[in-house]
Amino acid sequence: MGASISIDYISHRFSPSAALTLKEVDAKIGAGEMVALIGRSGCGKSTLLHMLAGLMLPSEGCVRINGHQLSKPSAKWNMMFQKASLYPWMSVKQNAALGLLFAGESKHESEQRVDALLDMVGLSDKKDAKVQSLSGGQQQRVALARSLATEPEVLLLDEPFSALDAFTRSALQEEVPAICRAQGITMVIVTHDIDEAIVMSDRVLIMSQNPGRIVSEMEVDLDWPRQHMDSGFQRHRDELMQRFEGTDTGLAGRKLDPDNDTESKSAA
Ligand SMILES: Nc1ncnc2c1ncn2[C@@H]1O[C@H](COP(=O)(O)OP(=O)(O)OP(=O)(O)O)[C@@H](O)[C@H]1O
Ligand SMILES: [Mg+2]
Repeated sequence: MGASISIDYISHRFSPSAALTLKEVDAKIGAGEMVALIGRSGCGKSTLLHMLAGLMLPSEGCVRINGHQLSKPSAKWNMMFQKASLYPWMSVKQNAALGLLFAGESKHESEQRVDALLDMVGLSDKKDAKVQSLSGGQQQRVALARSLATEPEVLLLDEPFSALDAFTRSALQEEVPAICRAQGITMVIVTHDIDEAIVMSDRVLIMSQNPGRIVSEMEVDLDWPRQHMDSGFQRHRDELMQRFEGTDTGLAGRKLDPDNDTESKSAA
């Protein structure tokens, strides 16, 4: 079952003389809730996500998971970074099973459990390949399988699909929330892509920059799986765009996504 996250008045500067990167960020995320965090490049999304993972402590304020103040990372919450960090000398299957091995599962059991996940992320024919021989997008999918294998309470995703082709990305945008919903995992995804935020989340938090603050939020009240062509989807997209335009995010407006035929909108 997922964990609840409480972000309690976090402010952060990277050095005493530096400007504030984050200012009084305050938000609650319910157990099993899926939240997207959007905002311009450099506004502090990754910094905040690292704090949710316990990988970085804020200058002021704190993160609480299930009410407990976070001071270090835990195997119960997994973070997937903008770039996959894999062991190049190991096979796909061994890399995907690493989290399970660290959690004390046997090698045999771990590799069995990642089998289905590797099928899901479209790597059925690559299980025994060395990760070095994989493309960037394929490596990112191994990292995703590894993150899901331990059935974490919290899954933190930092632009996980940016290196993927449009077909794989669209499949995973549907699969990942479905897995989180089925397992009750609390998910926070950082993305630049407004459509991705609507496709994958129950609620979207919008950040401004200099300093990074949560300036607006929007519930996504749509059935699963989300359909881009639904009128409800378009309504949410327009609403989110309006909220952007009403903030100091400096969003430039519509942008064509080169990997996708349909028009999408970007937060940066
Ligand atoms: N270790 C660090 N030391 C000093 N400044 C940092 C450090 N890490 C990040 N910053 C600064 O903090 C700000 C927020 O960075 P962060 O990586 O959180 O942004 P982001 O919203 O994730 O951007 P992007 O969308 O480009 O990934 C940036 O101005 C960045 O230069
Ligand atoms: Mg980032």
